[in-house]
Amino acid sequence: MQNSGILITGSGSATPGNYLDNQTLSQLVDTSDEWITTRTGIKQRRLAATGESLTALATQAGREALEMAGIAATDLDMIVLATSTPDDLFGSAGKIQAELGANKAVAFDLTAACSGFVFGLVTAAQFIRTGVYQNILLIGADILSRWVDWEDRSSCVLFGDGAGAVVLQASQQCDRLLGFELKSDGTQNACLNLAFQGAPRELVPDVNVAKGTYHPITMNGKEVYRFAVQKVPEVIDKALFHANLSVEQVDWLLLHQANQRILDAVADRLNIPSHKVISNLAQYGNTSAASIPLALDEAVRCGKIQSGDIIAASGFGAGLTWGAVIFQWGR
Ligand code: ACO
Repeated sequence: MQNSGILITGSGSATPGNYLDNQTLSQLVDTSDEWITTRTGIKQRRLAATGESLTALATQAGREALEMAGIAATDLDMIVLATSTPDDLFGSAGKIQAELGANKAVAFDLTAACSGFVFGLVTAAQFIRTGVYQNILLIGADILSRWVDWEDRSSCVLFGDGAGAVVLQASQQCDRLLGFELKSDGTQNACLNLAFQGAPRELVPDVNVAKGTYHPITMNGKEVYRFAVQKVPEVIDKALFHANLSVEQVDWLLLHQANQRILDAVADRLNIPSHKVISNLAQYGNTSAASIPLALDEAVRCGKIQSGDIIAASGFGAGLTWGAVIFQWGR
């Protein structure tokens, strides 16, 4: 099989109907619009109601991306769903495949927390690069509100729900995925967790199993902040090196939308001017695996990002995981 070029030809997004602004959130925990705005840049977040599923949000985002790319669901060879919050722990990608009617696509979930979209993009790209597949739908979607501790003011103010998607296509003429670098450091795993906790249940004498559930998000905010500000510029530099590009050639810095202060500090360290930094976290908060494709889709649809623009995207989060991918938008 011949090596193929990779194009990113469509984007889509979907967010749930409920809004929660900082003012209203301060009725729930001891916080204020002023604290949240100055420490994070977040003004409001969207939250999925009981009846709103991750599958439905992801499917809607996927449908929009297919429409923009101008291909049918039946053209898809693969669907990758980056999420930490599937409707079903066995995976939600299969249900999305069925909803879309993508009957020839293999579909699976991929978990890398807030790095999920970047890890998913690089994973999907390998199947195209090697000539195995032609059309892949990558969706980043999370409903972290299901797992946020709504009594912990240091974390509950940060997160929101949403979904974003892109279509990757093979090309023999052109290659627009220019470079990447992925990283993990499990020694810092305890910084950010959504962990299973079980109590022993004795099935028969001397045979125990753990019965329990996942417990709400715990986070060492200061450590995560320090990690992001140090590691994200490094990983972007490495990805740019692989792409044989200088930082001046980057048109848009598209970071995981965790905190405006992280976005500003990373841009500052890379010497990227603020007008090149894509930010929509004021409206959505941190939507985990959805944040990069959600911001990308908004910027594409409002005409900010144009075909051929060079984008440096970077995700970072639990694991700890982080990574960067350099690509040109469009055909
Ligand atoms: N409202 C009011 N006060 C608050 C709030 C709040 N919501 N939360 C914390 N405080 C208080 C603290 O109790 C503390 O008070 P004290 O000085 O009396 O002890 C004070 O504000 C300062 O708290 P810090 O934790 O030092 O605040 P900091 O400036 O570090 O900001 C924040 C906290 C916003 C969490 C920041 O550390 C951060 O953004 N970290 C990165 C987090 C992140 O991005 N996580 C997601 C990673 S992605 C993923 O994989 C899911």
